[in-house]
Amino acid sequence: MAQQLWGGRFGDAEGKTNECLAKLNCSLPLDSRFYAEDIDGSIAYAEALARAGLITDKDAADIGAALEVVRREWRDGSIKFLSSDEDVHTVNERRLTELIGDVGKRLHTGRSRNDQVITDMKLWLRRGIRETLAGLRAVIEASVAQAKQNLGTLMPGYTHLQRAQPVQFSHWMLSHAFALQADCQRLLELKERANLLPMGSGALAGNPLGVDREWLAKRLNFAGVTPNSMHAVGDRDFVVDFIYCCSLASLHLSRLAEDLILYATKEFDFIKIADGFSTGSSLMPQKRNPDSLELVRGISGSICASLSGIMMTIKGTPTTYNKDLQFDKQYAFDAFDRLQDALTVVEGVIKTMQLNRERMESALSPDMLATDWAYYLVRKGVPFRQAHHYIGEVVAYAEKHDLELNEIPLGELQKICKEFNVDIAQVSDYGVNVEKYDVTGGTATKSVKQQLKTLQNFIEEL
Ligand code: ARG
Repeated sequence: MAQQLWGGRFGDAEGKTNECLAKLNCSLPLDSRFYAEDIDGSIAYAEALARAGLITDKDAADIGAALEVVRREWRDGSIKFLSSDEDVHTVNERRLTELIGDVGKRLHTGRSRNDQVITDMKLWLRRGIRETLAGLRAVIEASVAQAKQNLGTLMPGYTHLQRAQPVQFSHWMLSHAFALQADCQRLLELKERANLLPMGSGALAGNPLGVDREWLAKRLNFAGVTPNSMHAVGDRDFVVDFIYCCSLASLHLSRLAEDLILYATKEFDFIKIADGFSTGSSLMPQKRNPDSLELVRGISGSICASLSGIMMTIKGTPTTYNKDLQFDKQYAFDAFDRLQDALTVVEGVIKTMQLNRERMESALSPDMLATDWAYYLVRKGVPFRQAHHYIGEVVAYAEKHDLELNEIPLGELQKICKEFNVDIAQVSDYGVNVEKYDVTGGTATKSVKQQLKTLQNFIEEL
């Protein structure tokens, strides 16, 4: 049986790690995911050792070549694990030593798994961020395509789930896309913030052997080095940040899912979710359930649970590294994987959903123009607060006489406010009113086109 990395002090039979601890201690099922990053970090570290004169250039080259062999073994699945392998770092170092003997044992000089594991995690984060951005980009792209294709389609806009004002379907669609754009921006900011190299922090006190951290940082594409070794080895803020970014993105997908679920009901019937993203009922033959989107809604609960999980894990750990921190990977990878699933499903749903334009437009009703009626009076010089009150009376009149706003005789309107005139009839057209909202960010076609351009430029450059 191979020796544990730290086995020297634990010589006798009674000192053998209890099986249940060995099982719990082993992080291999999680950290195998960044075997490649672990190898990249180790190759660079061997070069740094050679630069510091701690090993020869030939040693560094041999270590590099042997680690490439180990990489291939991971890749083709031929890598074997021993019961003494605690984690990915142990496996790589053991295999290295099996391949090149004593030279391999020099690699860990001045290094600890404490600075090694966060270096790996930060290297993995680049991949995590890149793939999450790609998933977000795909959903934004699908939303932009739907918005572009359906420009000019009107629908009721809601607040409190009550019909509020007419808007363009595209405006609604892009409201979700902009939330996802902000998620991308948050991830890009995190990429910059997390880009400091922890390697060279050792177990906690730093490196006493002259390893050039600045050189290592450049070698591994970091913008700089972490400024305090004790902080560096216990710092998991970048993991919390990443899971927070995933949580927020999942909340955005969940809210989008909720809108779509509602709009797909027979009561709304604004959209039809494609067969490929719907399921049936084992009992009720007529059912068509939006399970895909309900799962997306559910996934966000689980990602937010990972966020609390990592925060609760960190809370209460004393300064520097403690084994509790090993769980960071479980939370980060789970959040990442689940978000990927949700993004893929939402992209598919958006791409394949069908709009029921007639239903959307026939769901509009004249009362939704009450605000525009108030603006009509404002344009005639009536103070807004006063105009709001008059239109309130008009709405009450309509309700009392079971009429729509535009069915009230002009004479009756003039009894409420003398500024009403025949031109009030023009305020009855939904399309004309929507086009008045042409400020930046408004629902007029001009503004929606601007929004489309903003998002298209953004995803092109992403
Ligand atoms: N597997 C460990 C982790 O994921 C690596 C660091 C181990 N460090 C230690 N001092 N035991 O956190």
